[in-house]
Amino acid sequence: MTSQAVIIGGVPGVGKTTVINRTIEMLVKKDIMINLQIFGSVMLDIAAEKFNVKDRDELRKLDPEMQKDIQRTAAIRINERAIGNITIVDTHFAIKTGDGSFLQGIPKWVSDAIDPKILVLIETNPYEIAKRRKKDKKRKRDKESTERLKIHQEINRTIATTICQKTGALLAIIVNQNGKVDEAAKELTKILEKLV
Ligand code: AP5
Repeated sequence: MTSQAVIIGGVPGVGKTTVINRTIEMLVKKDIMINLQIFGSVMLDIAAEKFNVKDRDELRKLDPEMQKDIQRTAAIRINERAIGNITIVDTHFAIKTGDGSFLQGIPKWVSDAIDPKILVLIETNPYEIAKRRKKDKKRKRDKESTERLKIHQEINRTIATTICQKTGALLAIIVNQNGKVDEAAKELTKILEKLV
């Protein structure tokens, strides 16, 4: 049995998890069950077992080779959990590491393990992302200029199109405008309904 995997990413703080959670609520009302795999949580479990890492915001600051090792194991675990279901993989296309360079979120070993049918990029105005990060007191979010956030979103698009070129997956871009989570969730709901 194969899975129908949808990889969803976006710059940290864009509201990806908020939109995904709202979408799942909408789909449950239509009796559509979704398997949600949060890549960062699977990575955190592995990092806790192997390296005693306790905080998801520490992951991106680890040595990049260590991050890749954890990432590889996480992709295998997610693939094992995804078989036979419509699965959302909540992740990142590019991760800003401790020295400011970008780590690929979906390198070959991740796309081979997950074999996505659709990639979804959640985006919004960089100014909004900076504001959301500032407001979100539960997390240790990086302070970044709107120019840097714009570059990160551009890198995400480039990576997404490269993955689509290699895997044949479709690409959707959803804008999560300020105060409009429901509108973004409705767009994502439509995409996922087509996989049923
Ligand atoms: P992950 O678990 O994905 O990080 P996360 O913290 O859960 O999610 P984000 O930081 O991306 O935030 P978000 O965009 O979901 O925003 P949220 O919905 O919270 O990843 C954790 C770590 O795992 C990564 O840092 C990385 O190290 C690692 N990792 C993951 N995948 C990896 C991979 N493939 N390879 C290597 N490493 C990987 O919303 C933010 C705020 O905005 C909230 O306060 C919310 O209320 C508000 N908000 C949302 N939408 C709106 C709106 N429309 N209007 C107003 N406010 C809004």
